[in-house]
Amino acid sequence: MKLWAGRFHKELDKTTDDFNSSISFDSRMVKEDLAGSIAHATMLGECGVITQEEAAKICGGLKGILADLENGSLSIDENAEDIHTFVEGELTKRLGDAGKRLHTARSRNDQVAVDLRLYLKKECAELRDLLSGLTAVLCKKALQYKDAVMPGYTHMQRAQPVTFGHHLLAYAEMFLRDAGRLRDAAKRMDYCPLGSCALAGTTYPIDRERTAELLGFAGPTQNSLDGVSDRDFCMELAAAISICMVHLSRFSEEIVLWCSWEFKFIELDDAFSTGSSIMPQKKNPDIAELVRGKSGRAIGDMVTLFTMMKGLPLAYNKDMQEDKEAVFDAADTLKLCLKTFTPMLSTMKVLTQNMRAAAAKGFINATDCADYLVGRGLPFRTAYRITGEIVAYCVENGLTLETLPLETYRKFNEKFGKDIYGAISLEHCVNGRKVLGGPAPENVEAQANRILNLLGAKA
Ligand code: ARG
Repeated sequence: MKLWAGRFHKELDKTTDDFNSSISFDSRMVKEDLAGSIAHATMLGECGVITQEEAAKICGGLKGILADLENGSLSIDENAEDIHTFVEGELTKRLGDAGKRLHTARSRNDQVAVDLRLYLKKECAELRDLLSGLTAVLCKKALQYKDAVMPGYTHMQRAQPVTFGHHLLAYAEMFLRDAGRLRDAAKRMDYCPLGSCALAGTTYPIDRERTAELLGFAGPTQNSLDGVSDRDFCMELAAAISICMVHLSRFSEEIVLWCSWEFKFIELDDAFSTGSSIMPQKKNPDIAELVRGKSGRAIGDMVTLFTMMKGLPLAYNKDMQEDKEAVFDAADTLKLCLKTFTPMLSTMKVLTQNMRAAAAKGFINATDCADYLVGRGLPFRTAYRITGEIVAYCVENGLTLETLPLETYRKFNEKFGKDIYGAISLEHCVNGRKVLGGPAPENVEAQANRILNLLGAKA
């Protein structure tokens, strides 16, 4: 029987009952639901809304339910309407009237809002840990490959030389910001809506500060309508997750490219690659492709939440039951991706010679050639034009900046001396980019250590 059956003359239609039910996906918040109820009952007892004995009995009953769920002697009834009714029903079965007092000064509306916040705060912490793990791997690889020259690209065209370490640290910066967004989201969801009740609070003399404190929140929410009816914390988390998934997706795209024979900058470990059912030679970067694909899924979850919320009047509406599957899926997806992505990266083989060879093609040092002339007093725009003419000449004659004879250089401009060859060597190009944020190996080392320190300080 439904807990609200009193006002009704008929049982709920079976299909409608299934349609209305959320137990299949909200049962994962059972621990949070029990914790919320224990805090609520404790506070009710302290405030004299129920007796201390009743409160103790209720808390004992709730702890018994948790213990029985954990030891397997109790399982969640999938026919219950939702996790809140299941817990209350089970408690009443065990305690009789005392169990029926638990829901004093409470509604499922503030209950679900508190459960979800408690659950998602934990998810944020777990996601941040996984992100730190990935970022640490990137820093260690960056230290290892701080002077491995590779081509940097714009428009997917070879542009200027960088180092593999520098390239990896670009992602480390993104993941640091992603972790920051998760931290911010967790901070903003850290307010307890318990006591907002259905929408308008209560006339009972409850202590909302106390339940917030018992549950480890920074404090109670300040408006009862807001407390039960906003899901901005779900939207914010899904947005933070989506941004992170976009970063992972771009990285995955590069990994797919780097694994191709056209690049061959890296080779993934066999444990993180798959083969083809027909082509015996294939070793496919499926993991990276799946991560790239799953980013669409996380973004879909975010859009689900935004679209579901945008037309809702205050306060609670049943539409909001749809929040859970979307936000859970977003968090599950990121977790799953990080758990595979990080070891895939830490075990990859880096083919530095192929990177170096690719960087030697494509006039990647043309900017440095122009800068050389600037060093000899020419305005940059003039130096840029002359270098462009030299590149065109090399292309027409099958030469590179390294193989163009000095006499020819000097035909374009007499300021060229034989030190031009040193100035355009890739190592020189990279080592000279010592500007803050630049790819010089000493920078990469300092930045990787800086990030490792940040991660250590946080842990
Ligand atoms: N299962 C519901 C949800 O997830 C719990 C809140 C139900 N509240 C209500 N007034 N029907 O949103």
